[in-house]
Amino acid sequence: MTETLAKIDPNFARDVVQGLCQPRKTIPARYFYDLRGSELFEDITRLPEYYPTRTELALLERHGDDLARLAGRGRTVVEFGAGSVTKTPLLLDATEARTFVAIDISAEFLRHAARALAAARPALEVVEVAGDFTRPLALPALPGPLTGFFSGSTIGNFDHRAAVDLLRSFRATLGKDARLVIGIDTRKNPHLLEAAYDDAQGVTAAFNLNLLHRINRELGGTVPVEAFEHRAVWHDGYGRIEMHLVATRDVAFAVAGRHFTMRAGETIHTENSYKYTPAEARLLARASGWEPLAAWTDPQDLFGLHVWAAADEVLQP
Ligand code: AVJ
Repeated sequence: MTETLAKIDPNFARDVVQGLCQPRKTIPARYFYDLRGSELFEDITRLPEYYPTRTELALLERHGDDLARLAGRGRTVVEFGAGSVTKTPLLLDATEARTFVAIDISAEFLRHAARALAAARPALEVVEVAGDFTRPLALPALPGPLTGFFSGSTIGNFDHRAAVDLLRSFRATLGKDARLVIGIDTRKNPHLLEAAYDDAQGVTAAFNLNLLHRINRELGGTVPVEAFEHRAVWHDGYGRIEMHLVATRDVAFAVAGRHFTMRAGETIHTENSYKYTPAEARLLARASGWEPLAAWTDPQDLFGLHVWAAADEVLQP
C-alpha cells in the first residue's frame, strides 16, 4: 500500500559516496526504499520465510484489549514512519484513538497513508508531519497524552547506541505520560534468521541488489550489478543479521563522478537487523527512559510486541 510510493532523498549521493570511501564499504539501509525497493520490501513481507510482518499483525490483533488497557483509550497515536497502513488501523481501532499523527520523511507517502486511514474513519483526526523521525521533532499542539507506535522492528536497523538515542528522542517528543507500542524482533535460531533474510525465491537478494540499480539510475553509476551477489549472515556477538553485497570478481566503477574499485570477495555492508532477547529488550527500554509494561510473543517466540511507559511516570520498584 503506502510502501509502493517512492521516497525522494536529497542526501543519497553524499551518503553513498561517503560510504563507498570507507575501508569497509557501507551504504545506509534507508536507501533501499525507492519505488522498486518499496515494492520488493512489500513482497518480502509476504514470503513464507519472512515471519516478522504476519507475526506482528497477529500479535496486534490478539492483544487489542491489552493494548487499550495498557496504552490507553481515546488517545492520540503518533506513528514514527507512516509506512504500515496495514498495522496502524489495528492499534487505532483497538485503542479507540481520536487523533492520529503520521510522521514520515516523504510528504507523498504521508498523504497516501493519511487518506487511506481517514477514508474509513470519519471521526478520526489525521495530522501529517513531514520530517525525519531520527531527529528531534516539534509536534504541533495535540490532545494528549500521546501513544507512540514504532512497528516492524525498524528499531533493528539501528545499532545499540543509535537505538537508545532514537528511543530517548521519542520519549522527549511524546512528552508526559507517554506510552510506546513497539515491535521488536527476537533472537532465535540463526538458520531461521538467515532464511528470513535470504529467501528461496531470491526476493531479498533482488531487494539488496536493487540498491546498486538505484545507484546506477539516480547517481549516474556504472556499477556492474551482475558482478555482485547477496549475502545474509548472522553475527552472534552483535546479535544482528548483516546483509552485504559481495563482489564476485575485481570490479571498478563510478558513482556521482567518483571512481571506486573492489577486490573479488570484498563487500558493501548494506543493512544490520538487530534482534533482542526479552531481557535485552527491557534493557533497551530502561536505557532510553522507558519502563516496560508488557511484552507479548507468538507461541514460537518469533516476534515481540512491547508496551512501554515514559519512565518517570511509573513508580520504580
Ligand atoms: C524493515 C528494517 C524491519 O530488518 O527485517 C527485510 C528490512 N531487510 N529483509 C528487517 C528487511 C531485509 C526489515 N526492516
